[in-house]
Amino acid sequence: MKNVINVKHPLLEHLVTVLRDINTPPDRFRKTISQIGKTLFTEALREEKTKNKKVSTWVGEGYFPSLEEESYVFIPILRAGLPMLDGLLEIMPSAVSGFLAVKRNEETLESRVYYDRVPDLKGKTAVVLDPMVATGGSLNTALSIIKEKNPEKVISINIIGAPEGLENVSKSHPDVKIFIAQIDEKLNDKGFIIPGLGDAGDRAYNT
Ligand code: PRP
Repeated sequence: MKNVINVKHPLLEHLVTVLRDINTPPDRFRKTISQIGKTLFTEALREEKTKNKKVSTWVGEGYFPSLEEESYVFIPILRAGLPMLDGLLEIMPSAVSGFLAVKRNEETLESRVYYDRVPDLKGKTAVVLDPMVATGGSLNTALSIIKEKNPEKVISINIIGAPEGLENVSKSHPDVKIFIAQIDEKLNDKGFIIPGLGDAGDRAYNT
């Protein structure tokens, strides 16, 4: 799993524990997802190259390092990825957003796309946002659809994953770097991450 980067930081560990706590209410759950997303994206940007941009400053014009915000397309996977979008847009307000809804059938565990509003991605860096990788089916499906739109690069920001699911995505999409805060123990026989944090979509939106 060379393309899976487990980002280690005491604050991330603490925040993942906040998510695991069943007493964390939806508002704090969403804010915590958003905060973890920001931290992971900041780490993912470490590898990016800045370009010098002409800027008018108080002491005149000069060239200073800059990232082209418009070249990033944030793609939250509905529903649970939505709070991550809020966080990333705080960091990069001029980035583009696209939306993809994937639902896994709880019995067959197969994932199906039911909404695709991801723009053409030519020359762009697609940033997929989903807190959970369980079997990996949803992320695999999302990545395949995203790749059809010809992005220059794809990265995935996830909060927790099961080793089985991450292995699965890593094999199908070895070119996609996955930045993740926590790799959990295993999947149970119903396809839930153990210990995990429950159904992130339900917990974020109080359903
Ligand atoms: C959850 C989660 C991931 C997916 C992970 O979403 O947010 O998208 O399951 O499972 P997988 O790796 O086995 O595919 P869900 O399908 O429950 O939709 P929701 O966000 O609307 O609740």
